[in-house]
Amino acid sequence: MFNISKQQVLEAFKHRSATRAYDPDKKVSAEDFAYILELARLSPSSVGSEPWKFVVIQNQELRRKLKPVSWGMATQVEDASHLVVILAKKNARYDSEFFRTALEKRGLNEEQMEKAIAKYQSFQTNDMKVLESERSLFDWCSKQTYIALANMMTGAALIGIDSCPIEGFDYEQVNLILADAGVFDPKEYGVSVMVTFGYRAKPIKSKYRKPLEEIVSWVE
Ligand SMILES: Cc1cc2nc3c(=O)[nH]c(=O)nc-3n(C[C@H](O)[C@H](O)[C@H](O)COP(=O)(O)O)c2cc1C
Repeated sequence: MFNISKQQVLEAFKHRSATRAYDPDKKVSAEDFAYILELARLSPSSVGSEPWKFVVIQNQELRRKLKPVSWGMATQVEDASHLVVILAKKNARYDSEFFRTALEKRGLNEEQMEKAIAKYQSFQTNDMKVLESERSLFDWCSKQTYIALANMMTGAALIGIDSCPIEGFDYEQVNLILADAGVFDPKEYGVSVMVTFGYRAKPIKSKYRKPLEEIVSWVE
């Protein structure tokens, strides 16, 4: 269907590596970065809620502030071409304005809307049990952001752009620094995960993965 072979996709997956050192002189073009952001935007999310925001931090002063509380990107935060902080929505309850807006995209009439909200009330309460704490509900949205994260990294790898997902940081401090800088409203959003993009400074060693037999079982 598309003019891209399985071999090419596999080669991109094998080449992709968590990049801890970027070439400071090579930057991702605006056009290529717009493509990466579009892959994030097109990502699927539960209930089609799109419970995310993508903050691209190109301000070096802000990056330097993040460095001491972000051990997982200490070696790359200054040289990375682009740093994206992915935010997840807080309090995305079935009866929130946020949720209603997400459902409105489907063009439901008022009766269908009420039915959908009742269904998602049960889904969030009984099935996913995410209403037990603010944290569980946030983590449900945070899970969705990781799909966008993966799509951005894979799509980047397919056009030869390197990346590194980042969870190695003090969440409280990073939330504080970014909220203080006016980057987002901490009542509405929280930091889910970060990711850097750029071009690797040096070749990266081959990767280790468990053999398929160890991780896959078939039930026939
Ligand atoms: C959600 C997530 C968070 C990660 N956080 C960090 C991080 O903070 N710093 C880092 O250097 N690598 C981080 N990694 C990279 C992993 O260590 C790496 O993906 C793993 O060792 C496999 O290596 P590969 O990606 O090169 O194949 C993270 C990976 C994932 C998926």
